[in-house]
Amino acid sequence: MKVLVIGSGGREHAIAWKLLQSTKIQTVYVAPGNGGTASDHRLHNLPLTDFKDLAEFAEREKIALTVVGPEGPLAGGIVDFFRARGLRIFGPTKAAAQLESSKAFAKAFMKRHQIPTAAYETFTDAALAHAYVDQQGAPIVIKADGLAAGKGVVVATTLPQAHEAIDWMLGTDASGVSLDVKHNDVPRVVIEQFLEGEEASFIVMCDGKNVVSLATSQDHKRLLDGDEGPNTGGMGAYSPAPVVTPNVHAKAMHEIILPTIQGMAKDGVPFTGFLYAGLMIDAHGQPRTVEFNCRLGDPETQPILMRLKSDLFDLFAHATDGKLDEVELHWDRRVALGVVVAAAGYPGTPRKGDAIQGIPVEAADGIVFHAGTELRDGNLVTSGGRVLCVTVLADSVKQAQPRAYELLQAIRFDGMQYRKDIGHRAMKR
Ligand code: AMP
Ligand code: GLY
Repeated sequence: MKVLVIGSGGREHAIAWKLLQSTKIQTVYVAPGNGGTASDHRLHNLPLTDFKDLAEFAEREKIALTVVGPEGPLAGGIVDFFRARGLRIFGPTKAAAQLESSKAFAKAFMKRHQIPTAAYETFTDAALAHAYVDQQGAPIVIKADGLAAGKGVVVATTLPQAHEAIDWMLGTDASGVSLDVKHNDVPRVVIEQFLEGEEASFIVMCDGKNVVSLATSQDHKRLLDGDEGPNTGGMGAYSPAPVVTPNVHAKAMHEIILPTIQGMAKDGVPFTGFLYAGLMIDAHGQPRTVEFNCRLGDPETQPILMRLKSDLFDLFAHATDGKLDEVELHWDRRVALGVVVAAAGYPGTPRKGDAIQGIPVEAADGIVFHAGTELRDGNLVTSGGRVLCVTVLADSVKQAQPRAYELLQAIRFDGMQYRKDIGHRAMKR
């Protein structure tokens, strides 16, 4: 069978790599893919991003299943588009994807269904937002409503920072970052209570009714060692996340995931796809939802899929048939850890076109997934912010970390940046 993976990041490289291990899969197309998927002779890149072009390709080539990696096409309604043409696709509809694409939708949903999250208010009026922040005090969190590639959240430790964030997000100029507020008529901010604790990524697969949880993971959102510097899409990740004890896992399932799936079904928007709850777990082991994503995490997917022993295509087939209740997942008992190597300038404006050298060949315990890379005249160059994710398997985080950095040592490109402490939280436990 032939399958199509939509996206171009490290997450999509990992999905394609894992699908290739299925005996039922003959060809994996990746649209548009990256330099890593272009270099693997078993994968085929397609220079397509338009829904119509993709659907026509899927029809023409008799694609058995399409899997969507990133939130953009999901929020844009690619699942609705494919389904209307009778094509099999895994992901949430445009309406269900609002759990990620609209913070206001997600917060109202959680309030309605009593799902633990931070207290909040929504504003379109800047004066009211300023007054609310003055009344609440700092620390406080200001979020732009809409997809903003991880840049739409300001955790303000002081009141002036909070006021500045409001002006920036509700201002007419939206200087600096282009916030995607196109699907809203007016810019809107969500202002919420600051939650203390440790974060974890809790990702499940849903078929609208049944839920299967994936292995837990944790990523590192800040650019610099010691969790300093600006927020990024994620500088590294590992699985499992020790903070998610069996007790926390049970609470997350019963208080967050299952009520969300049931609530969406009850509201007439059944959720199919990957549901990613970003959890904040407090000192008592109580998880609260910081955010929902309607997709797999990047870079969490790279370590998670490296640990998955089950057939990923089988899993997608069950999910699109509404039969996830028949599935049991098998995981490698070892730890997987991935270190992201980013381009010069990331997370601002990354520099492109730097030649990349020394990527080690795939080993049983280590693989370098590509993200912002491109093959230009047969040479690998950088083409985006997060360039590579060096992912390894080992018996413990203590062993995985040095192994990842050992593999990374061979890799060279101008301006490369990476954190040297991926996994530090897990090692302290
Ligand atoms: P989000 O895009 O909503 O996940 O926010 C990005 C990051 O900001 C999260 O991963 C947290 O580290 C931080 N954050 C968001 N909301 C809160 C909150 N209510 N309390 C503390 N930290 C938060
Ligand atoms: N690594 C965080 C995310 O994928 O949203």
